[in-house]
Amino acid sequence: MIIAVDGPLAAGKGTISKALAAHYGLPHMDTGKLYRGVAYRLLAQGLSPHDQAAAAGVAKSLSMQGIEDEALRTAEVGAAASVVAANQAVRQALFHLQRDFALQPGGAVLDGRDIGTVVCPEADVKLYVSASPEERARRRQAELSAMGEEISYETMLAQTIERDTRDSGRADAPLRPAEDSHLLDTTGLSIEAAVDKARLIVDQVRSAKG
Ligand code: CDP
Repeated sequence: MIIAVDGPLAAGKGTISKALAAHYGLPHMDTGKLYRGVAYRLLAQGLSPHDQAAAAGVAKSLSMQGIEDEALRTAEVGAAASVVAANQAVRQALFHLQRDFALQPGGAVLDGRDIGTVVCPEADVKLYVSASPEERARRRQAELSAMGEEISYETMLAQTIERDTRDSGRADAPLRPAEDSHLLDTTGLSIEAAVDKARLIVDQVRSAKG
């Protein structure tokens, strides 16, 4: 079974995907990490995420080895990831890593922006996870604060809206729900409630498909 989980920043994709992967015994890929990895490598070399040729070069030979998870989660890397993600050559270079992961025997759970639309249009179950920009900004602010990065709510909300606009507005694989995706709005839901809803959707889709 292949489960595709898409949605905007801090909608709850990561938590829900990890919980689904554990519940159904499937491997999980956080595809945002790949884009963050490209951004991280560029920034570490003092290069701009807007440098298209450099970004494409990094993506083609991307190694995630030696990059700490925490270093990938900063607001700076997240914003730069969204810039490199609009680069078609970068998306092309990262496509096969994601596609191969999805097609492994037994299936997988992948979360990102374009899993149900581009990477795996044939996924068995597609979830589109969303929440209000205000709630997502609050969640990401708390997540960053727990890692020692303090950002005001106003700045976080502005960054959230900027990233949403860039991810949805790009020409190549824009963020949008696949036509056959199931919408899951996590606004006001606890983690447990959101995960329960996601499992219910997966079970319903599976039993409907027989
Ligand atoms: O965790 P958060 O929702 O902030 O973002 P992420 O999933 O780590 O992804 C970081 C950035 O990578 C996003 O803003 C997207 O621009 C890009 N991305 C993408 O274009 N396609 C994907 N499948 C995953 C991420």
